[in-house]
Amino acid sequence: MSEHTKYSNCFKYQDSQLCVENIPLENIAQRFGTPCYVYSHQALSNAYRQFEVALQSREHLICYAVKANSNLAILNLLAKLGAGFDIVSAGELQRVLAAGGAANKIVFSGVGKTADEMKLALQADILCFNVESSAELERLNEVAKKMGKVAPISLRVNPDVDAKTHPYISTGLKQNKFGVAYTEALALYRKAQTSKNLRIVGMDCHIGSQLTDLAPFIAATEKMLALVDMLAQEDIRFEHLDLGGGLGIQYQDEVPPSIVDYAQALIGAMHGRTEKIIVEPGRVLVGNAGVLLTKVEYLKHGEEKHFAIVDAAMNDLMRPALYDAYHHIQPVHKNTGNKQTYEIVGPICETGDFLGNARSLSITQGDLLAIMSAGAYGMSMSSNYNSRPRAAEVMVSGDVAQVIRERETVAQLFSGEKIFV
Ligand code: LLP
Repeated sequence: MSEHTKYSNCFKYQDSQLCVENIPLENIAQRFGTPCYVYSHQALSNAYRQFEVALQSREHLICYAVKANSNLAILNLLAKLGAGFDIVSAGELQRVLAAGGAANKIVFSGVGKTADEMKLALQADILCFNVESSAELERLNEVAKKMGKVAPISLRVNPDVDAKTHPYISTGLKQNKFGVAYTEALALYRKAQTSKNLRIVGMDCHIGSQLTDLAPFIAATEKMLALVDMLAQEDIRFEHLDLGGGLGIQYQDEVPPSIVDYAQALIGAMHGRTEKIIVEPGRVLVGNAGVLLTKVEYLKHGEEKHFAIVDAAMNDLMRPALYDAYHHIQPVHKNTGNKQTYEIVGPICETGDFLGNARSLSITQGDLLAIMSAGAYGMSMSSNYNSRPRAAEVMVSGDVAQVIRERETVAQLFSGEKIFV
């Protein structure tokens, strides 16, 4: 396991104070308030660079999956490091372009692309549309025709491989809505081949997220390559093979493969092939580069359980409520007092509003807690439920901390709403 698939070294205690790079999280809370997402610039850059180095023996493009965390500062940092982007909406396209990302390094995934989204992406001249159905192929051909353009495409093949992850984030099985059936792929490539406004450039697959085993990645890649070989016999050839994202990180005691081992496995599976490798990592680049900083508002001692009611909630970090996901929770200031077992809960009116169960902590009212591994699918999945403005986001580099997204105001929450007259 490498540094970036586990809790980042950029978050560690110095004299009992949890710091992000050189800044105590306590100072961040004082300056910017809580709840607040805090990211380490160094952890982000290191994870990306580690990926680059691991793939350097092959022609490749790392297309960061924007959905994991779409803050402009993070996109900009990755763009400057040379990243491409995997997008799933016109919104993500516009974010990437606004952040300085290169259009010719964008792949567009997703099962429900609208004609307007296709138009915008064609205007921008993106690298590739990852097409997920026959109907989408037809629509894209029509949209491109109207614009006098040729759309670069790949088909997202569903390899029917069990990713052995949470069912909500498993995508490569027959019963999932994603991709085109393995058995349908040949016919669809032939159809694309004869469509005047489509140009076949690749094949892609993505089987799920938070994978902690290499075997499903290898199995999916091998199935794709078998298709590539069949298509080669019909003279359908590819510039790139997009092997998707999905590499897991350590939240608790999982032992995901390191970035190096993952890259080696992909390179090994692609041995003797000339196509460029594209990957679409999200979580592994940002997950352990961010924490959610929150304050204990109240300690409440119930008949059966002790509760630490904090100022962050399921609207800020939805993963525990949605997937029963585990996030490690650490005190920002290490206390030596007696520990007690707490349910770490938010103020939202739902029993599902918890951030951690049965955590043994020595805390008092007013203490700060860091919810670890919150850089991926944290802020990007946040909502305004209970009319809670979304948290601020702060980036730290060395001794410098900077807001990269202002805390939302209540006025912003209902600025688009109107009284019915
Ligand atoms: N490519 C495609 C087509 C995807 O659908 C995804 C994630 C990725 C790449 C990036 O996967 P990653 O490397 O981050 O695993 N909200 C869930 C995760 C949903 C993932 C959806 N697709 C969570 O919080 O665990």
